[in-house]
Amino acid sequence: MAVTIKSQREINLMREAGKILAITHEALAKALKPGISTWEIDRLGEEIIRSYGCVPSFKNYQGYPASICISVNDEVVHGIPSKKRILKEGDIVSLDAGVIYKGYHSDAARTHGVGEISPEATQLIEVTKQCFFEGIKYAKSGNHLNDVSSAIQAYAESFGYGVVRDLVGHGIGNHLHEDPEVPNFARRKKGIRLQPGMTLAIEPMINAGKLDVRWLDDDWTVITKDGSLSAHYENTILITEEEPEILSQA
Ligand code: MF3
Ligand code: CO
Repeated sequence: MAVTIKSQREINLMREAGKILAITHEALAKALKPGISTWEIDRLGEEIIRSYGCVPSFKNYQGYPASICISVNDEVVHGIPSKKRILKEGDIVSLDAGVIYKGYHSDAARTHGVGEISPEATQLIEVTKQCFFEGIKYAKSGNHLNDVSSAIQAYAESFGYGVVRDLVGHGIGNHLHEDPEVPNFARRKKGIRLQPGMTLAIEPMINAGKLDVRWLDDDWTVITKDGSLSAHYENTILITEEEPEILSQA
């Protein structure tokens, strides 16, 4: 599939989708308290998304059974919400959500601490977020995709962290997943040349330990092989003539 350039109309719809997604994330962050189940967070997230006339894009996507991916501690991504999973002080929780507004998608993830968390966990969360910002410094018209990917990898590895190889970011638009793939690590090829109107979901997934991951028997939940903590940070962005625009913010 070719990488598409979005029209002004499409960009406006993606801006709207992104705003609603950002509002959803802000509300979910406030709800994260010791004692809440990941199922309750999912219910709240879906309620908010639908209250804005959006559809949660993950629900039933390739059979995914919920609206919000909720991944705790050594879970990297795609954790399935459950009434039995009760958050406790010291946990770190990655919330990944997607919305569709009038046919257009936005996708974003945040990792939060529950109550007080360790200095190690705090650093992992902050570095993972900063990986995104290091990457988008290069998300400029004329640069190659690999410039973004390399910057993310270099920043994460400068802290000794493992950059997950088995999952990548992606183009996004009227589908959740479009070309190109957006790795968080360098590849031998330079990748596509970035152009104004391209919309990308850039989503570093960073492990405190080694980069290796495995899938649980539920076929969704991805965990670190070494049991180390993992964090995720994602935004949907627009390539412009100048600085990239983060679409998934309020
Ligand atoms: N942000 C994730 C992604 O880009 C979420 C997809 S989860 C799924 O792939 F449940 F929808 F599959
Ligand atoms: Co994504």
